[in-house]
Amino acid sequence: MSAPTAAAPGAPVVELDLAELRRDPYPAYAELRRTAPLAWVPSVRRHLLTRYEDIVHAEKLPEVFSSREEGSLLLRTVGPNMLREDDPEHRRLRSAAEPPTRPRQVRDLWADAFERTAHELLDRIADRGEADLIADFAEPLVAANLALVLGLRAASAADVSDWSRAMMAANGNYADDPGIWLRAEQATRAIEEAVAEAADAVRDEPDGSVISSMVHAADPVSLTEIQNNVKVIIGGGVNEPRDVFGVGAWALLQRPEELEKVVKDPASWKRVFEETARWISPIGMYPRQLTQDYEIAGVTLPAGSRVALVIASGNRDESVFERADEFDPDRPHRPHLAFGGGPHFCMGAWVARHEVSAIAWPLVFSRLKGLRLAEDARASDNGSAADRLDGWVFRGLTSLNVTWHAP
Ligand code: HEM
Repeated sequence: MSAPTAAAPGAPVVELDLAELRRDPYPAYAELRRTAPLAWVPSVRRHLLTRYEDIVHAEKLPEVFSSREEGSLLLRTVGPNMLREDDPEHRRLRSAAEPPTRPRQVRDLWADAFERTAHELLDRIADRGEADLIADFAEPLVAANLALVLGLRAASAADVSDWSRAMMAANGNYADDPGIWLRAEQATRAIEEAVAEAADAVRDEPDGSVISSMVHAADPVSLTEIQNNVKVIIGGGVNEPRDVFGVGAWALLQRPEELEKVVKDPASWKRVFEETARWISPIGMYPRQLTQDYEIAGVTLPAGSRVALVIASGNRDESVFERADEFDPDRPHRPHLAFGGGPHFCMGAWVARHEVSAIAWPLVFSRLKGLRLAEDARASDNGSAADRLDGWVFRGLTSLNVTWHAP
């Protein structure tokens, strides 16, 4: 399969400025949905698919919209892994890794430790009366939780954060910066060592973690496969829950009535989570490559064509979500696309939901009394100069500066 590097015949060509997309992609998505729901975008070197129904349609046809993208930077950074495989290979790896991330396991095995870590992090900042809740709380919390679920016993939260950042930079290294490749190689080597050590330790004493589950899988998985998949999970398991935490907290701090409602009815944190992930999706888009000629959104794409499924756009599709640009946790339920769909539906969805909506938000809002955005962090549509929303492939707040009444 060779990938065409230009527009499919009949596909509209739309120039988009990447800096503008990073700043705020939503106006461009609205225009694409209206006028060119499948468009070739030269700066992205892919066709962008932007309407909800078309994305759902593509996700239902993984044999046509393959996850095995040629020349993928993710493959270069981590090697073959479940995210860039199709079934049956994908299923073998996913079945081996998945059990520790199911809802029951999250509740029975991990929830108490998640909560302890959240309390410890809040103990460290409670007396200060001010903090950046991204750097001082959300990032170390989700990184420590990920180390635990994966079974990386010797890795600290800071290790996991650093590794994640190095790999994310490599996955977006379209400019081929050698410094970025070097840092990613150092990170991947460190992960390989940590995984090899953990795999040895659980061989005789399983511990319920992802590494342990893969070591003892009924359908065998090699050490290299475990290492590569742990790299992918570290690359993708930190920033997304951190970003849902940050964006949701920020949205509520600007909407005191919504905040009061949710504090009075803690069951509704779940709705806040789903609405936050819909409104500002932490992963904005991901790639697929066609295995055969296929018509979608009025264009026949030749085999080999590259398509980006722009889930952040599907999640703002007005034909599915009324007043789609508004943050409204009480909106009628419609399934959002933030966790993807089909066989690659996010494996960490229940981990993320639990750590953010059952632990991080309730504890932050109950323990930090009088919590408010810091003066210089008050919002405009896209955040203040200090706390900015940034990104389109991944999108979240750069920081979340807050103050509260210190005891
Ligand atoms: C709010 C938080 C999260 C969001 C929005 C999110 C989003 C996504 C999306 C959109 C995909 C599909 C990508 C594709 O099809 O190409 C995905 C896959 C995946 N996610 Fe997440 N993710 C989150 C948290 C996590 C966490 C915490 C973990 C690890 C514990 C994780 C592990 C994975 C894995 C392993 C896959 C690949 C699954 C497969 O290929 O079968 N994610 N995620």
